[in-house]
This record gives sequence, structure tokens and C-alpha cells, in this order.
Amino acid sequence: MQVILIGPPGAGKGTQAGALQERLRVPHISSGDLLRNAVKRKTETGLQAKQYMDRGELVPDDIVVRVIEERVRQDDCRDGFIVDGFPRNVSQAEVLTPMLASLGKMVDHVVSFAVPREEIIKRLSGRRTCRNCGAMYHIIFDPPVNSGLCNKCNGELYQRDDDQEDTIAARLDVYQRETAPLLEYYRARGLLREVNGIGSREQIFERILGALALTP
Ligand code: AP5
Repeated sequence: MQVILIGPPGAGKGTQAGALQERLRVPHISSGDLLRNAVKRKTETGLQAKQYMDRGELVPDDIVVRVIEERVRQDDCRDGFIVDGFPRNVSQAEVLTPMLASLGKMVDHVVSFAVPREEIIKRLSGRRTCRNCGAMYHIIFDPPVNSGLCNKCNGELYQRDDDQEDTIAARLDVYQRETAPLLEYYRARGLLREVNGIGSREQIFERILGALALTP
């Protein structure tokens, strides 16, 4: 099964994709994580992407498409995958369809999360991520046991560069302008499953399972 998660920054796509990958036993592919990894490794892709990411803008389509295509062609994606963060505009969606068709696959469901702006700002400004294993926390909603340290591997927790207030605002504007039109695009194709993104992680996960017609 191929599932796409769409939602504004901080809507909980990464959080829910993590739970969904355990339930569906298929990999979670995050375009943001792939790009951040390239930035960290200082690859050519990473160096090109960084300037856009730092400003909260979309990385050019050709770069992101290349990164995603390389990932979905890997063996562990044979039985499907969950993509979080791609496509991000209609042109990326139009590239995705033939890319999947060449692998004998299609998009089965597009789950979109509705979360109001003030909640998003609270979620993003308190997000902390483990530098070592990537586990995610929130200083109020999901604090680590020891401040600044990961519960799982004791790694250092850091705040993403693009989670500063002015960059969050820029990312929200980009979402409205570039990504929100995708909802209509997928609704018209009968693939859109809209989920209320407010509530506990468990409540939201149950809503997603319901939207995908899966049993809890
Ligand atoms: P990306 O990494 O995709 O960031 P994003 O879409 O802005 O989404 P986030 O990762 O910020 O949020 P999320 O929805 O995953 O929320 P999370 O689960 O972490 O993209 C970053 C950049 O990369 C882009 O700006 C762009 O430059 C580039 N990029 C990526 N893909 C691209 C593409 N396709 N094309 C072009 N450029 C691209 O949760 C957030 C916080 O809330 C966490 O602290 C979490 O613990 C907390 N939380 C989660 N759920 C709940 C809940 N139910 N209640 C309370 N708190 C919660």
C-alpha cells in the first residue's frame, strides 16, 4: 500500500508516519529527513537544498524528485511505503504518478491533517529531535525524561534550524500557496482522506486507521 501524508508544517505527519509504519510494516519516507541527511553529509544535493530549507522555501522540484525516486526504488519499498512531505505541489504530484507506475504502483490514499495555525506554532516551537537516532519530543506535550537527552539512546536533543518563529511563518505561507492546492487535486481523484489533526497522538492515529479502513 502506498500512502501519502499531507499537512502543514508541524501537523504531526512525521509522528503519525512513525506509528503507521509499524502498523503497515512498510518504510516511512520523509522528504525533509532525506534532505536534512544530505545537508548533514554535505553532499551536492545537500549543499543545493540548504539555502532553500533555511529560508523555509521549497527545494526545487528536480532535486527533491531525484531524492524521492532514488528512495522508492530501493528494495525495502517493494511492498509499499508511507511518504511524508512529498509531493508538496501539483507539479511534484504529476511526476509521482508516472514514477510509481514505472514500478507497478500507484497512490492508494492521501491522508491530510487539519491543524489550526496557533497549534502548529506551539508544536513547532517546542519540538526537539535527537541528533543521534532522530526520535522526536516536545518540551511540553512529550518531554524527555532527562531534559535535553533522548530517552532511547541518550543522544543530544536539538531544535531544527527552520523551527524559529520567522521561518515557521514562511513555511506556513508556502504551505498555503503551494501545497494546499494538492488537497483539491487528490480530492478530485477520489484519494483524499481528511483527518482532524487535533487531539492526542493515539486519537489521531485511530482516525487515520479509520480513514484507511484498517482495524485498530
Ligand atoms: P519537512 O521536514 O517535510 O517539514 P514540514 O512539512 O514543515 O513538517 P515538519 O517535519 O515540521 O512537521 P510534521 O508535520 O512532520 O510534524 P511532527 O510530527 O514533527 O520539510 C522541511 C523542509 O524541507 C521544507 O521547508 C522544504 O524546504 C524542504 N522540503 C521537504 N520536502 C520537500 C518537497 N517535497 N519539495 C520541496 N522542498 C521540500 O510534529 C511536530 C511537533 O508536534 C513535534 O514536537 C511532536 O512531538 C508534536 N506533536 C505531534 N503530534 C502531536 C499531537 N497530537 N499533540 C501534541 N503535539 C504533537
